[in-house]
Amino acid sequence: MKLFLDTGEIREVEKAAGWGILDGVTTNPTLIAKSGRGFQETVLDIGELLPGGAISAEVVATEYDTMLAEAEEIASWHEQIVVKVPMIRDGVLLVKTLSDRGIRTNVTLVFTVSQALLAAKAGATFISNFVGRVDDISGDGMAAVAETVEMVEKYGFDSEVLVASVRHPQHVVDAIRAGAHIATMPFEVMDKLFNHPLTDSGLQRFIDDFREAGLEIRAKAKV
Ligand code: E4P
Repeated sequence: MKLFLDTGEIREVEKAAGWGILDGVTTNPTLIAKSGRGFQETVLDIGELLPGGAISAEVVATEYDTMLAEAEEIASWHEQIVVKVPMIRDGVLLVKTLSDRGIRTNVTLVFTVSQALLAAKAGATFISNFVGRVDDISGDGMAAVAETVEMVEKYGFDSEVLVASVRHPQHVVDAIRAGAHIATMPFEVMDKLFNHPLTDSGLQRFIDDFREAGLEIRAKAKV
C-alpha cells in the first residue's frame, strides 16, 4: 500500500520524505492556494524533495478544451506529475484522452462506485475516493472504497484506488482493511501513525533495563 501526503506545504513534504516511507503527494487547488506560493513552483519543489514520487496537480477548468490545455501544460512540467481531473463528464473524456497519450491521471471528487467505474473505464491511474467529506455529513465514506476496490479487482482494471479526504488514523486502518492501494493524508495524520503509548513505555523499559545491567553497544570507529 502506498502512502501519499495531501498538502501544498513544502516543509511537510520535506519532513515526511525524510521518514523514508513516502510514495507521493496529492495537491488540490485549495491546498495550493493555502500554501501562498505559485502552483508550478510548489509542484516542482515537491517533486525535487521526492524523486520518483507521484505528484498530483489539478486542472481548474471544467470544459474539455480548456481542461485539455491545462492538463498538457501541467503534464509538461515534470514526468513525476499526475494530472488530477474532477469527476465530471468532460473530465472523464479528458482522462480517456490523456490515458491514450500515456499521461497519468488522478480522478478526484469520487464518492460512489458507479463514478469510480467511469474513471476506471476511461483509464484513470488513480481513483480518488473521498471518505472524510462523506463521514462529515453522517455517511459511510469507506463503504464506497470497499466497493471500488472490489469492482477494480473483479473486472481487472489497472486503476489504483486512492483513499482521499482522510481525517484521522482510523481512516488509514479502514483503508488497509478495504484493500485500498493508496491513502493520501494530511501531515498530522501521517505523523500520528507512528504513535502508540505501549511503544513509548516499552522502549523506555528496554533502554532502562539494558543500562541498569551495565550493558552497552560499542559502535566500531569509522575509518
Ligand atoms: C485528495 O487528493 C484531496 O486533496 C483531499 O484528500 C481532500 O481532502 P479534504 O476533504 O480534507 O479537503
